[in-house]
Amino acid sequence: MRLNKFLSACGVASRRKCDEIIQNGQVFVNGKVASVGQEVNQKKDVVTLDGARLKLPSEFVYLKLHKPKGYACTASDERGRKTIFDLVETDARLFSVGRLDYNTEGLIFLTNDGEFANKIAHPHFHFEKEYQVTVEGEMKESELAVLRNGVVENGVKMPKTKVKFLSYDGKNTKLSVVIDEGQNHQVRRMFDCIGRTIVLLKRVRIGQVRLGGLARGKAKPMTAEEIAFFMGEK
Ligand code: URA
Repeated sequence: MRLNKFLSACGVASRRKCDEIIQNGQVFVNGKVASVGQEVNQKKDVVTLDGARLKLPSEFVYLKLHKPKGYACTASDERGRKTIFDLVETDARLFSVGRLDYNTEGLIFLTNDGEFANKIAHPHFHFEKEYQVTVEGEMKESELAVLRNGVVENGVKMPKTKVKFLSYDGKNTKLSVVIDEGQNHQVRRMFDCIGRTIVLLKRVRIGQVRLGGLARGKAKPMTAEEIAFFMGEK
């Protein structure tokens, strides 16, 4: 197996980034500094990154979780807050595929397959993420048009966005917002730019995988078909 693929499968980074890490001289194979393009035998070779031995996860785990509000997406929160890893019972060393803000709820994947996580995060693949956004007050069609066209933040235009009106209950407006980039706090920033307050932000879909009826705080394994959707060539 190519060394960059091995590193990526261990969850280090994308293959391209792994090549940079190898080039920096941070990776050793059997005690010798590694080179880009090198092959490794995953069973026999000892691969280290910054002195720590890397091993492929023996069995991959892929979970979908309904993250509730009030949970951090880090392995250990420096402020001692609850984390999404408190919600799953497993011996596998899982990480989340991307992140949701502390106060965002909805669908997030957990895995120990670095290659799977890197592929979903890679901008080249443009996997859609759909959010249900509950906004204070009644939103005007002209505001939806601004969001669709890409709001301007500090002079920089944000990406065009699919925005659909869902409902207005006399107090709040519910919208469906679909983005295919993963900028930090992208949805909240869009609404900040037009001076609107988000009451609840919930991710309901990633690619073809929907949150569906998964209860808040619960996790379940992804199906083979769902995993294949992301791992197949798109
Ligand atoms: N956009 C945000 O602003 N927050 C999230 O948690 C996800 C997308």
